[in-house]
Amino acid sequence: MIERINIEVDGRKVAVLKGGERRILYIHSSGSDAEQWKYQLESVGGYAIDLPNHGESDNAKIGSIDDYAYYVSEAIKQVCGKAVVAGHSLGGAVAQKVCLNYPETCIGLVLIGTGARLRVLPEILENLKAEPDKAVERILEMGFHGRGGEYGRVKEKYLKNPEILHLDLSLCDRFDLLDDYRNGKVKIEVPTLIIVGREDKLTPLKYAEFFRKHIPNSELVVIEDASHMVMLEKPDEFNSAVEKFLKKMGI
Ligand code: COA
Repeated sequence: MIERINIEVDGRKVAVLKGGERRILYIHSSGSDAEQWKYQLESVGGYAIDLPNHGESDNAKIGSIDDYAYYVSEAIKQVCGKAVVAGHSLGGAVAQKVCLNYPETCIGLVLIGTGARLRVLPEILENLKAEPDKAVERILEMGFHGRGGEYGRVKEKYLKNPEILHLDLSLCDRFDLLDDYRNGKVKIEVPTLIIVGREDKLTPLKYAEFFRKHIPNSELVVIEDASHMVMLEKPDEFNSAVEKFLKKMGI
């Protein structure tokens, strides 16, 4: 059963979905919300946040990935103290920042279809303003392997608020820890599971392999016949990888 447990951060409502009791918190990708994790909440359990300006959460002024990380860390403190932080795409950038900026809240990471740098195709950013339909179609073409895995529902969600999708993708475009990982300025020391769909064109396998190389206590799981929306496209394979990782951590 999934329930809503809304909390407050600095006087603003932050909406959280809760599956079974488990110390894992999921962060959604650009223009999405906590419902993206319904298969994980039902099966693996844990918590999924609606970032500010998304889903049922209140609006807030967000100017960087670090701003999102602040809200997530506060949410973790309130719902379970500390957690494995699992993030997809934009959410994966936020998860890295939670781990680096608020290490007291992060006992492990799951980095899904994400990267140490997340440049976005300029045509997507430009078209989202002028022709959102066209831009969203392009994102989905690259983000799904075929048209399964809830293609239609994701499309509907993106088109509901193309301004927020644009803001999120602009934040991704400016997110860049690539050199910091390379020169050792960024050090992730918690156990880390990296998951990527073999066919991911938005955050290709190369990005995941970069994490594997630079995060010492990490393992990489590549899911076949899936693209960027791997948690929706291949929930069983995805959940069993997360389950195995959590069990190994004793969670
Ligand atoms: N991990 C490891 N390597 C990375 C990386 C990451 N997260 N991000 C970039 N790189 C590498 C690239 O592979 C490239 O290496 P190369 O020179 O050996 O080929 C180099 O760093 C520079 O790449 P990039 O930052 O991507 O800049 P670019 O000017 O080459 O390309 C885009 C820009 C937008 C065309 C390209 O990033 C892209 O196709 N992105 C995917 C599509 C997209 O919009 N994704 C949305 C993500 S939210």
